[in-house]
Formats: sequence, structure tokens, C-alpha cells
Amino acid sequence: MSLMDKHQFIERNATLLLVGSLLVVSIGGIVEIAPLFYLENTIEKVEGMRPYSPLELAGRNIYIREGCYACHSQMIRPFRDEVERYGHYSLAAESMYDHPFQWGSKRTGPDLARVGDRYSNEWHVQHLSDPRSVVPESIMPSYSFLKETTLKVTSATMELTANKHVGVPYTDDMLANAKADLEAQANPDADTSGLLERYPKAKVGNFDGDPARLTEMDALVAYLQVLGTLVDFSTYDDATGYR
Ligand code: HEC
Repeated sequence: MSLMDKHQFIERNATLLLVGSLLVVSIGGIVEIAPLFYLENTIEKVEGMRPYSPLELAGRNIYIREGCYACHSQMIRPFRDEVERYGHYSLAAESMYDHPFQWGSKRTGPDLARVGDRYSNEWHVQHLSDPRSVVPESIMPSYSFLKETTLKVTSATMELTANKHVGVPYTDDMLANAKADLEAQANPDADTSGLLERYPKAKVGNFDGDPARLTEMDALVAYLQVLGTLVDFSTYDDATGYR
């Protein structure tokens, strides 16, 4: 039988064609999938990444509750226009402690993966309370009620525990101090040595401008201010990971 005849034979025999196609597809599949079972981790380790502090985590929950992801992504793609606008493209490790991750696929507003440190706390509070007072053409809704809503601090330990269950390496020390750390981060007068040891680079401040109350605005701004600030890209090399 010539090659042409063999081909015709297979093509005219539906069952044989199906079996043959499945065989080819499964070989391709196994070649791609099998190595993953032997890798301990597919995320390249990056220096500086740490789990969220209790206050940042509370802010993240508010971010999810309010649906900020419906208009904002947190994923800078490795394209020149994005890198020039937002900064270094996002690394997988930067969302390794996010459950669920907030990459998003819709950008009605700008990407927020590196918004931390870009604006002052005052700017964020003003912007979240009344977006058009700082960006006149903004279509972002107002979240002024966050400033009036007292933050629930009693669930801090439970929030950390829940994340620990899904793989975030919170230590017993972190769990035991969750509530104290949460309150200390929003109080510039507090003793924050323990907090900073457990959560290096955590920003301490009176985020919402009202020292008398711990509000949901405090938590959300603390979260926004940490986004994209943990990895030091001056010591990160694209090709090798590290210099
Ligand atoms: C309906 C869409 C929409 C929703 C929902 C939304 N935003 Fe925005 N956001 C925008 C738009 C549009 C802009 C750009 C104009 C501006 O700065 O206000 C923006 C800008 C921002 C900026 C400034 C980013 C920069 O780099 O200048 C931050 C921070 C921000 N939003 C945070 C939030 C947070 C936090 C939430 C949820 C509490 C949220 N947004 C919900 C549309 C939205």
C-alpha cells in the first residue's frame, strides 16, 4: 500500500481516525503534563514576597467585597507599553499569597498591580471618597462610606487561619498577634517592632486621616499601598532571577 493509500484508508475509516487522533493528542498531552508532577513548585521564588499583614488582608477583603476587580486588573503584561506605564511586568510569585488572585481581565480603570507608593494616603482617601474631586473625568464610583464604617477586627485571626489552610505560610506567632498587628499598623504611635519583624516593609500609618477610629478606609488604603512594593526590582534580573 502506498502512503497515499494508507492515508486514504485511515481517513475513510471514522473509528480508526478517531482512535489515531486520540493517540496523537494524548501523547502530546502527556509530554506537556507529566513533567509538572515532578516539579515541587512552578512558581519561581522571589526575594521580598511575604504574606499580607492582617490589616492589608482586611483591606483586600474589602477590595473583593466592593468588586474593585470589575474595573481594575492587577496583572502587568510583559509588553513595552504596559511596562512603561505601570512598571515591571507582574511575576507569578507576586500573587502567590493571593486567594483568590486578583489578576482580572477588565480594565475600565488602570491596572493596580503597582499602585503602592504611587500616591499619598491622603490622595487615596480623597479619591475613594470623591473620585471626581481629584480626577475630574473619572467614572469611578464613590466609596466614601468606607470612612464611616468601623473595621471589624475580631475576625483577624480567623482570616489568617483561613488563608493558612489554603497554603499561605502564616506562623503561630502571626496568628497569635493578628489582632494586635492589625491595630498597630494603623496607629503611628504604636510599638511596631513585632509587626515589622513579622511583615517586613509593612507601612504604618493613620491611613484614613482619622486617628480616633479604625475604619474600612484604613484597611483598604493599607492594602493599596502595599501592592507591587514587596519585590525590589533593583536587585531582580529578568534572565536569571537574581544578580
Ligand atoms: C466602574 C469602574 C470602577 C470601579 C468599580 C472602581 N474603579 Fe477605581 N478607577 C476607575 C477609573 C475609570 C479610574 C481612572 C480615573 C481615576 O483615577 O479616578 C480609576 C482609578 C483608580 C485608582 C487610581 C489608579 C492610578 O494609577 O491612577 C485607584 C487606586 C482605584 N481606582 C482604586 C479602586 C478601588 C480600591 C476600587 C474599589 C473600592 C475601585 N477603584 C473601583 C474605575 C473604577
